[in-house]
Amino acid sequence: MIYVTGDTHGDWNRFAHEILPLARDWGARDTLLIAGDFGFVFRPEGDPAEAECMKKLASLPFTVAFCDGNHENFPRLMRYPVEQWQGGTVHRLGPKLFHLLRGETYLIERKSLLVMGGGRSIDRVWRTPGLSWWPEEMPTNAEYQHLRQRVQQLKRVDLILTHAAPASVMRMVGFDPGAELPLNTALEGIRQSLPYGQWFFGHLHLDRDFGPNLHGLYHRVMRADGTALQTID
Ligand SMILES: [Fe+2]
Repeated sequence: MIYVTGDTHGDWNRFAHEILPLARDWGARDTLLIAGDFGFVFRPEGDPAEAECMKKLASLPFTVAFCDGNHENFPRLMRYPVEQWQGGTVHRLGPKLFHLLRGETYLIERKSLLVMGGGRSIDRVWRTPGLSWWPEEMPTNAEYQHLRQRVQQLKRVDLILTHAAPASVMRMVGFDPGAELPLNTALEGIRQSLPYGQWFFGHLHLDRDFGPNLHGLYHRVMRADGTALQTID
């Protein structure tokens, strides 16, 4: 089965207290997708607490695959080996731990998946470039172009995993349409033009559905069919 959750921000408690109790029956054939802000590759290389978390992640019986969000150490992520996995390009962080790349498509359990990471840090003025913030958080023109090319090749996709939300969602949660970012606009274009089964995004830290097949995720864990595994109050 494929499961999806929101931003984990390098917090092992998300796994220990929220995900692992639900994952008791998950095994080698199961995959957990994370909608960005994975955050377990964030601190300077060699950080012992982070290394310990990565060891625990590597020992999980199921696969973990994430799109990048805005709170990621991109230079460190980019140093992992680039490989092919489930029909698309990834960074392999471990035997069953993968960074899904922007604009890539995958086929997992016969479900097609389109991925677009990236997002704008609204708190970036309080962050330190190269230590807690990286300009790579926003997609490059080449990455947008790669996404457009992939989308043009698709007639339909089963699953979409993004960190940021489409522009219409940003308007629904009160963001000024005049301040719309190109990333939100690009995702809105996909929402309007590409038939999809279920779309999952993180970033807004909201456990809220925006219609039957568009889901904001934070702490909750959903099945790929858009049903929740647990209730979040
Ligand atoms: Fe986040």
